[in-house]
Amino acid sequence: MTTCIVVGTHWGDEGKGKIVDYLGEGADIVARAQGGSNAGHTVVVDGEKFVFHLIPSGILHPGKICILGDGMVIDPRSFLQELEVLSRQGVKVEGRLFISPKAHLVMPYHRILDELYERLRGKGKIGTTGRGIGPAYEDKVARWGIRVGDLWDQEIFAERLRTVLHYKNLFLERVFSHPPLSFEEIFSEYLGYARDILPYVADTSLLLAKGLEEDRKILLEGAQGTMLDLDHGTYPFVTSSYPVSSGSLLGTGMGPFSSIEVLGVCKAYTSRVGEGPFPTELKDEMGEYLREKGHEYGATTGRPRRCGWLDGVVLRYAVRINHITSLALTKIDVLRGLPRVKICYAYEVEGKVVEDFPLRPRFVNECRPLYWELGGWDEDIAPVREYARLPLAVRRFVESIEDLAGVPVSMISVGPGRGDTIIRKALW
Ligand code: GDP
Ligand code: IMO
Ligand code: MG
Repeated sequence: MTTCIVVGTHWGDEGKGKIVDYLGEGADIVARAQGGSNAGHTVVVDGEKFVFHLIPSGILHPGKICILGDGMVIDPRSFLQELEVLSRQGVKVEGRLFISPKAHLVMPYHRILDELYERLRGKGKIGTTGRGIGPAYEDKVARWGIRVGDLWDQEIFAERLRTVLHYKNLFLERVFSHPPLSFEEIFSEYLGYARDILPYVADTSLLLAKGLEEDRKILLEGAQGTMLDLDHGTYPFVTSSYPVSSGSLLGTGMGPFSSIEVLGVCKAYTSRVGEGPFPTELKDEMGEYLREKGHEYGATTGRPRRCGWLDGVVLRYAVRINHITSLALTKIDVLRGLPRVKICYAYEVEGKVVEDFPLRPRFVNECRPLYWELGGWDEDIAPVREYARLPLAVRRFVESIEDLAGVPVSMISVGPGRGDTIIRKALW
């Protein structure tokens, strides 16, 4: 196996960063394909915590090549901040970190519009991360975007910015009565970024193609999750990119090929941050308990995450949409000490049992989750490294998830640290 795509099975924050860091040890190249600094991927090594927004979570392994792929939207300010933190933590990235010139730049007006759109939506707001992601992708599709590669030539960048800003200022002033933004200020700010960023710019899809040719191990790090996908998620409460597995190929310039492992990262319970439907959400003390015990506060915005029991209907849907070949189950340790744990195996919709995620919005809003109830466990599983040594109740929980998903659980994460991991079937 030479290529593995890591995807989130639910609404993000499943623990993708931890899993990518773990697998990064054996990889040669780790690439992000979509999203931007809306992502917050946490990695804990020897008690030290790192949160990545744009830079791939494989960067902590010396010598590994890391790529910010074609399909991303990159806020240079956020990228440079991340680099600075890494450098303070002693991580060297020179010569092994590359950005695609096709990636789009997040501009100051994107962040402003993100906020203005949300205000305009009022009660129907999405609850975005406020990082300008939606407006940046909107510009890309409408061909008002400015790409990283436009920074290569000052004249091209100036002309592009002048044209785009003319339209953006018209829009800001006429629709939102917002004061216009200054060309000079943005131009000089971004020229500064260009100096710092251009050394990292390279033809990343070519690097990946060469990697494939040389049989290198490639890890594609999905951001967000299946249910936040622009097409396949709970639209309009989604992000503006394609977090599903095929989006990882699109966003790195790789065509489809047969020997791809798709690893779905699934949390032992489900969370969501922002607005939108969430059938298994627990608005009671149990939801509160999961949030506190699992430290479910956003790695990007610090917002409290909504929590609920594991949604197996969504999991099965994610397996299908992503062609997931195996699962990494995370945060199972958080469920310790509960007398009973639940897994949603189906929804009840208008008196009928439904096993496939409904596409009719009213059904998603009104469905009633049906649960399997399983026995809990009191043992501390954090130190366990062998599957057979896990308490029977934990193994029953894992095997119920396998039955439901129809694919094996190949990895189990029992704590946030790199080493807190049980491998049932090694990827590489
Ligand atoms: P991501 O966006 O999918 O990378 O996930 P986040 O980093 O936003 O959120 C996952 C959180 O859970 C982070 O704080 C991780 O350090 C933590 N985490 C990951 N795996 C485990 C685990 O198995 N057990 C526990 N207790 N925490 C975990
Ligand atoms: P990681 O990679 C969880 C959510 C936001 C909001 C919606 C749209 O850490 O799993 P956006 O700013 O993208 O326009 O917001 O998507 N969202 C995430 N939720 N984890 C993420 O990333 C997310 N990235 C975006 O909360 O509901
Ligand atoms: Mg996250």
